[in-house]
Amino acid sequence: MARVTIFGAGYVGVPTGAHFARTHRVTIYDPDNNKVENINKVIDNDSDSLHIHEKGLIELLQENHENIVATTDISLALDRPEIIFIAVGTPPNEKGRANLKYVCAAAEQIAKNVKNDCVVLNKSTVPPGTAYLVKEIIDKHLVNDVKISVGSCPEFLAEGTAVEDLRTPDRIVYGCDDTEALDKVTEFFLYLHGRSTLSPMTTLSSEVTKYAANALLATKISFMNSLAILCDAVGANIREVQEGVGKDTRVGRKFLNASMGYGGSCFPKDTSAIAEYGQLFSSPLEIIESTILVNDKTIKYFSEKIIHAFGDDLSDKNFIIWGIGFKARTDDLRESKPVQVARELMDRGAHVHIYDTVKGALENFKVENPSYEGKYSVYHEQYEMVNGNIDGLIIGNEHEKFRNPDVEKLENMRGKYIFDGKNVLNNHLIKSLKRKGFNYRSVGKDT
Ligand code: NAD
Ligand code: UGA
Repeated sequence: MARVTIFGAGYVGVPTGAHFARTHRVTIYDPDNNKVENINKVIDNDSDSLHIHEKGLIELLQENHENIVATTDISLALDRPEIIFIAVGTPPNEKGRANLKYVCAAAEQIAKNVKNDCVVLNKSTVPPGTAYLVKEIIDKHLVNDVKISVGSCPEFLAEGTAVEDLRTPDRIVYGCDDTEALDKVTEFFLYLHGRSTLSPMTTLSSEVTKYAANALLATKISFMNSLAILCDAVGANIREVQEGVGKDTRVGRKFLNASMGYGGSCFPKDTSAIAEYGQLFSSPLEIIESTILVNDKTIKYFSEKIIHAFGDDLSDKNFIIWGIGFKARTDDLRESKPVQVARELMDRGAHVHIYDTVKGALENFKVENPSYEGKYSVYHEQYEMVNGNIDGLIIGNEHEKFRNPDVEKLENMRGKYIFDGKNVLNNHLIKSLKRKGFNYRSVGKDT
């Protein structure tokens, strides 16, 4: 059992801390008092609601309550940790590069307060070379005479499935040029995972691996999206093409779903950060640059399908959006494509009726869109607003609840339009909807 500290109580820090607490003693440090109180209440069984929505997270925190605590107190956070993980945000700056101010601030805090030898690992997604920068900052501000090794341990969990992804990861990538420190990290992970899962490497390779993984997944999506637009043009069906291509095990079936574009807090920011980084080193990443262009083009392509059906002025129109999170089962609205569609429709005068299976997603929509108040309504029941005032239904994410809609209820809508932003309806259902007079629009399988 090791003592570990995690800087950052967000979508990565909390699930990671809860997972590590299965076999290690964990302290989560975050300056945000609300988040810290929230986590401790859950750990103490005093509350069953967290500031982030992740299946199984509350139970995991409670199961491991003896091994985990959250704090805003930096001296408590740095009470003899053997390994420190920095899992703070790295949002894009105005140039599309990763903003490292939170990472640098964490490094400085560590330097000023740490009292024992330890290994610091960046879990935040950061440009190659950031571990060296963190080491420089720590060396500059170090107060006590201790040895701090710095490396990287990028995270590959996906939102909505974080607990399961952490429990059964495909791989754990970590890098540190100090081999003694690298061995210590290996030992730490062997408490949690089998050796074959572990991929130790150099610091720089592990930092590049994170961006490579996200960019490759995003590229698969954009690749299919550009073909989806071609499919619409020639009358082919991208879903069938996906099946035909994805069954080749060399290609693989995952991340080939054409959609209105990838969103979330990671793919958009990470593709743009690594593309910028390539330019900085005169090694342009042309494929990734195209991935970004196609993603921007795809959301416009999808929104234009709605506008094309109703005209530019939507002032007397009412739309339903099922699923406002950037994907199913999350309250996270960062770079959410359904949010972009909702704003576009409201800007054109429409009223938008929003349902999501995650309550927090609806709450976040209200908080993040104060200027649109009065132009939208939120609902906690999927069919509550399906009535004679509705002109069209937009499917915003891939939740199972949206795959088999109750067609009888949809027939109450005055407008017979379904815009499937994630291509979730199957061919059989689409045919039957069309027979009932519905117009079906998607990304690559309209015909
Ligand atoms: P988040 O915004 O949810 O959480 C970041 C937390 O860091 C916040 O609670 C903030 O208060 C805290 N923080 C800021 N400065 C701090 C400091 N000096 N010390 C301690 N805490 C501090 O972010 P996130 O989604 O958890 O992402 C964190 C990093 O992990 C990012 O680099 C992201 O790209 C990467 N990542 C995210 C995911 C994901 O699914 N969200 C997956 C893999 C990697
Ligand atoms: C993604 C990666 O999957 C994680 O491995 C990674 O750790 C994380 O980014 C990160 O670095 O933060 P996440 O953003 O949570 O995870 O969500 P994904 O499931 O990857 O979906 C991203 C977007 O792509 C969503 O908008 C989703 O709807 C879209 N998508 C996904 C498609 O349009 N088609 C697909 O086939 C798959």
